[in-house]
Amino acid sequence: MYLGIDIGTSAVKLVCADTDRIVATASVGLETTSPQPGWSEQHPGHWWRATRAALQQLKGQVALSDVKAIGLSGQMHGAVLLDRALRPVRPAILWNDSRATRECDKLYAAQPQIGQIAGVLPLPGFTAPKIAWLKQHEPDSYARIARILLPKDYVGFRLHGELTTDTSDAAGTLWLDQAAREWHVRVAAATDVDFDWLPQVVDGHSVVGAVTAQAASETGLKPGIPVVAGGGDAATGAVSLGATEPGRGFISLGTSGQLFAADIEYKPNPECYVHAFAHTLPGRWYQMAAMLNGARPISWIGGQFGLSAAEVVSLAESVSGDRVPVFLPYLTGERSPLGDPKIRACFFGLEDSTTRAEICRSVVEAIAFCFADAAQSFGDTIGSLSELAAIGGGSRSDLLLGLIATVTGKPIVRSDGADSGPAYGAARLAACGTGALAITDLSDRPLTTDRFEPADPAALSERLTRFRRLYTAVSTVD
Ligand code: XUL
Repeated sequence: MYLGIDIGTSAVKLVCADTDRIVATASVGLETTSPQPGWSEQHPGHWWRATRAALQQLKGQVALSDVKAIGLSGQMHGAVLLDRALRPVRPAILWNDSRATRECDKLYAAQPQIGQIAGVLPLPGFTAPKIAWLKQHEPDSYARIARILLPKDYVGFRLHGELTTDTSDAAGTLWLDQAAREWHVRVAAATDVDFDWLPQVVDGHSVVGAVTAQAASETGLKPGIPVVAGGGDAATGAVSLGATEPGRGFISLGTSGQLFAADIEYKPNPECYVHAFAHTLPGRWYQMAAMLNGARPISWIGGQFGLSAAEVVSLAESVSGDRVPVFLPYLTGERSPLGDPKIRACFFGLEDSTTRAEICRSVVEAIAFCFADAAQSFGDTIGSLSELAAIGGGSRSDLLLGLIATVTGKPIVRSDGADSGPAYGAARLAACGTGALAITDLSDRPLTTDRFEPADPAALSERLTRFRRLYTAVSTVD
């Protein structure tokens, strides 16, 4: 049995799996704090605490002594800063934090070729500009930095004591030379980062350490279990679906949203804020549109109305789309394809007669419209994908998957375990690291349980045009 640990934004999720199926799952929620507008932070210690609590949940279902290897997955781009004693200097600054906008402008001015080197243009969610921001605004924290890790790597460090990352998480920092798959000295220097602070970069299936006696006593895991590096959640989600070969793609509907296409070449497309990143497996890259708001607006509106996500979706299904308002879902700004950290969400077209159900429908529809924009930004790459698999909590909604199929023109398929994609991908990397699976086995696809064909797009095209025009209008408002 192999254990996958996914350090998500809303929860730590665990999967125990054999080489071909999920055996048990567990999940413990996480809080995000926003001490100032545009800030998004979590304490690394809380990830470790939630991991330990989720392992206690698993103990009720499986024997932890049966775990043969562990793999990690996690939210990408977060800056985890450790001091000389390897303790967190401050809370981690997350992927959806937009404070470091000025630092992005400075980085671009210093390194105009950055889009070609790092596979994407600078935006504040990436790791690099956050360090430059700290130097300017929190000099005391900056002065204490001795090491930098990504979120999943901090949990790896607590498990095995090593400071490492994998290519796919390194890819999301802006410091990686994507083509060479190694740190880029000049880009690191341009964001006030000492090269020695950066961890060693390895492939996702590489064994990087073993559970220490201390971690074993804190978790109930056996000491000495091998731990592989794992990957950023986009890459581990891909591994869960076999999206490791050209022509394989998927959409992820978690707190964030992703449209992902695997490749064997590095193909930067920075103008549209498509991310061209190193995959977690050797000789593989991918293109990704990363949407900051994914399926999160569903739980956000549910929170305002006192409804669960399932209730929001079922209300949305209860009305036709004819008279619903238009919603811009940019609660935390947007990355792909707008590259606009300052934009915020709004409703347009509310009437005296507008109902809660119609508001819910506009929220679900807006998520689909973001995928229409993402597909458009992919250019020719989208044509190479015959269908898109769906993972993440939002993939439970038939309405949402049907709408995405229609606006992207691509059939969307769903498989069992779609909710636990990244954690399952991490477990598969662990199986690969110990030789139970070959790298080629990671391109196996799970069995499809549901398929959503594109409907006539004419019914939605007028509303999609209004959605795009609304963004153009609202983006000029300070
Ligand atoms: C990808 C991205 C998010 C985070 C959190 O670029 O920012 O998907 O990894 O899920």
